[in-house]
Amino acid sequence: MKKLLSVLLAAGMVLSVTACGASSESTALSDDATSETSTQSEAATSEAASGDFTTVTDGVLTMSTNAAFPPYEMTTDTGDFEGIDVEIAGAIADKLGLELQIDDMDFDAALLAVQQGKSDMVMAGVTVTDDRLLVMNFTDSYASGIQSVIVPEDSDIASIDDMQGKLIGTQRGTTGNIYCTDDFGEENVVAYDNGLTAVQALMNGQVDCVVIDNAPAQEFVAANPGLKILDTEYANEDYAIGVNKDNTALLDAINGALAELKADGTVDSIIAKYISADSTAE
Ligand code: ARG
Repeated sequence: MKKLLSVLLAAGMVLSVTACGASSESTALSDDATSETSTQSEAATSEAASGDFTTVTDGVLTMSTNAAFPPYEMTTDTGDFEGIDVEIAGAIADKLGLELQIDDMDFDAALLAVQQGKSDMVMAGVTVTDDRLLVMNFTDSYASGIQSVIVPEDSDIASIDDMQGKLIGTQRGTTGNIYCTDDFGEENVVAYDNGLTAVQALMNGQVDCVVIDNAPAQEFVAANPGLKILDTEYANEDYAIGVNKDNTALLDAINGALAELKADGTVDSIIAKYISADSTAE
């Protein structure tokens, strides 16, 4: 379990998501104005927009994600994208005078897209890790997560140690998958395309437990009777936006926008909209 601790320490700046009032102006989240795909020079609305960054497509902020990760990113019945990341990304795009475009793919592909310069940023509840910092830059953190363990209600797994020798379901390319293969051996870990397919495998008895971030875990358990989440936390993590290593101008611009959105309470209110205040409410 040593590795987990180092991940924790490496994660650095822990940003709590507690609401702290002071929303001077409510930002236009649902504002679908800015239709013109003009370049950032037009966007004099914010200091954050002043840098001379470039994007994959002029006037567009392309975000790669895996929209099977509620409440961070998911699709509505009508096929639109919604969730915490989707709304924060929309607010960042507004501040930068860009139009947000969301490219949905597998999680590992979403990480790769930004490294290969096919997307401007990967925003997918991405945990900051040392290994990922070698291949991409991360913005400041905007939320925190916990790797938790889902088991059937009648499971004999009651703690992390009980997972020894069991079959563990994970999402491919995620920290949950990496920790579990490190701690319990590759032969005991199955990688599924996404969290939902992992949970379906658990329901079908194909795996004994699923390791996944706590917020989606809550959603999956709420939607699937007969499952529960262990009290034990497997790992604590920080989520941030991944940006191509060569595009530090864009990294700075996103950080500037993010700082404003944190300061005016927008980030907190978006998170609160999707995750009920089970932690520090005011
Ligand atoms: N936080 C975990 C990681 O960074 C899982 C993220 C999965 N996100 C998703 N949209 N499927 O590895």
